[in-house]
Amino acid sequence: MQTKPNILPSLKLVLSFFVLLSLNAVKAQPFLKAHPHINPYRYEIVKEMTFDNGAVTSASPLASMVGAAMMKDGGNAFDAAIATQLSLAVVFPGAGNIGGGGFMLARKANGELIGIDYREAAPSKASRDMYLDEKGDPIPEKSTRGTTASGIPGSIAGIISTHAYAKLPFAKLIEPAIEFAEFGYVISEREAKGLNSEKANFLKHSSAPSAFTQKEVWKAGDTLIQPELAATLKRIQKNGLAGFYEGETAAYIVKEMGHTGGYITLEDLKKYTPKFRKPLEFDYKGHHIISFAPPSSGGILIAQMMQMIAPFNVEKMGLNTLESVSLMVEAQRRAYADRAEHMGDPDYWKVPTKTLISNSYAQARMSDYKAGEAGSSKTTLAGQVHESEQTTHFSVIDKEGNMVAITTTLNDTYGNKTIVAGAGFLLNNEMDDFSIKPGVPNMYGALGGEANAIQPGKRMLSSMTPTLVTVNNKPYISIGTPGGTTIPNQVYEGLVNIIDHKMSIKQAIDATRFHHQWIPDVIAVESDFPEDIENGLKAMGYKTMRRGKFGRMDGIQISAQGKRVAAGDKRGDDSVAGY
Ligand code: GLY
Repeated sequence: MQTKPNILPSLKLVLSFFVLLSLNAVKAQPFLKAHPHINPYRYEIVKEMTFDNGAVTSASPLASMVGAAMMKDGGNAFDAAIATQLSLAVVFPGAGNIGGGGFMLARKANGELIGIDYREAAPSKASRDMYLDEKGDPIPEKSTRGTTASGIPGSIAGIISTHAYAKLPFAKLIEPAIEFAEFGYVISEREAKGLNSEKANFLKHSSAPSAFTQKEVWKAGDTLIQPELAATLKRIQKNGLAGFYEGETAAYIVKEMGHTGGYITLEDLKKYTPKFRKPLEFDYKGHHIISFAPPSSGGILIAQMMQMIAPFNVEKMGLNTLESVSLMVEAQRRAYADRAEHMGDPDYWKVPTKTLISNSYAQARMSDYKAGEAGSSKTTLAGQVHESEQTTHFSVIDKEGNMVAITTTLNDTYGNKTIVAGAGFLLNNEMDDFSIKPGVPNMYGALGGEANAIQPGKRMLSSMTPTLVTVNNKPYISIGTPGGTTIPNQVYEGLVNIIDHKMSIKQAIDATRFHHQWIPDVIAVESDFPEDIENGLKAMGYKTMRRGKFGRMDGIQISAQGKRVAAGDKRGDDSVAGY
């Protein structure tokens, strides 16, 4: 005879198991449980919205929402920026990072400017010709793939330095990132495509399989859980800088170096320090523009280009007309020629910043400009001066008027494709931003010279251009974008769209873009660039090239009524949040 099982005790057991599980989840997810509107398994992209108090715009809806929540919880723009950046390291792994570096530019409501350089640095074993073979030719992939390509990561040191300006405890700001890593988040179609297309590279360049390679094929809606990254973030939560630059995490990084012959040592990690850089400032048509100093080239480039075109009535020329595009391209040609010759890490090379950003130099550089005629990079060389693609940008403005603009990078998408075994994060391939051989272009086709040659401890020249604008000494815009050497041109065009063409920040960000970087002597245009203007440029003698979209510009503008108008680029999953 069969006996009927008494299901009551086992039901009780199951119920108490679930009660325990949900209590544990509340305990384990203090941030997400306290902010139920942030649901990592169901979220939407918001491209443009106006907020009364504070706003964030970034490459990920979840990261933007986390930043906004920190401000609502009593934090300021610095709290929001720290929490957003740490969240991006989990929910936007292609560029958000703890294994890379970046630049933090801020203007406090009282007018104080802050620039924190946490760019990666060359390891102590680095040397000028480390990427060349015996014939003096670049060794394929050595500066772009695997651990040999990595500079010493700066992101965690930069974030911790930024915390001096924040209000909330660091342990709270890193908590959302830990919860996203530990309990997972749902990936977008874009992320699924990225992970699938890099799977073979991840396996080839890492010593062990990782969270990114756990699935055969990723699809939109899958949940990505990163337990090793969660454990690393918890070590940082507990031990601060030492949680990354020393102990277990540092040991994992150095062990991973051993897999493909990388150069970073325990001593390199321990010695890494972020540097404060005085932000660059210049005026353009009633606007005061603040941007990043070397080792970024971005601030100098936009100062040069905008001052070169300032005497012209660009508004009257019109958006994307032959006249306005050729004028703006000729400014790009001249400024990028100077980039190759004069710019590098100012602690290792005397960058003539003061001259390069002076209005008189800009006018002298344009003295041979002839409207209606295509210039040539054979005859336009760097000026004589007497006296340096995958990245992510986010912007924050809080209710007091503190503005933060951060651009951070692993260099290429998913960096050097190496996930540190045991620690669960990607490493950068930033060493390729040095001139590995003067005269040989890097992955962005950019040339460099002695100013940007490799030396131990030196920081590679960057194009990242986090930028702020004030009018009448009042906060106005926080803006920036990823895109390698196209970054300064994108910011330049975005600002001209707003200032000269009177576009809204969203229109300015979404508008089609063009890019000239001196060498190669060609104008790259996005696929929606007007065909008749491209044909007109060719008829003038320019070479043009159609390429896919470039950049994902994110910005916030303060309206005349004091509202925060936040916009995310149409080109990505970029999304805004605020309150
Ligand atoms: N890795 C891109 C840049 O820093 O310009």
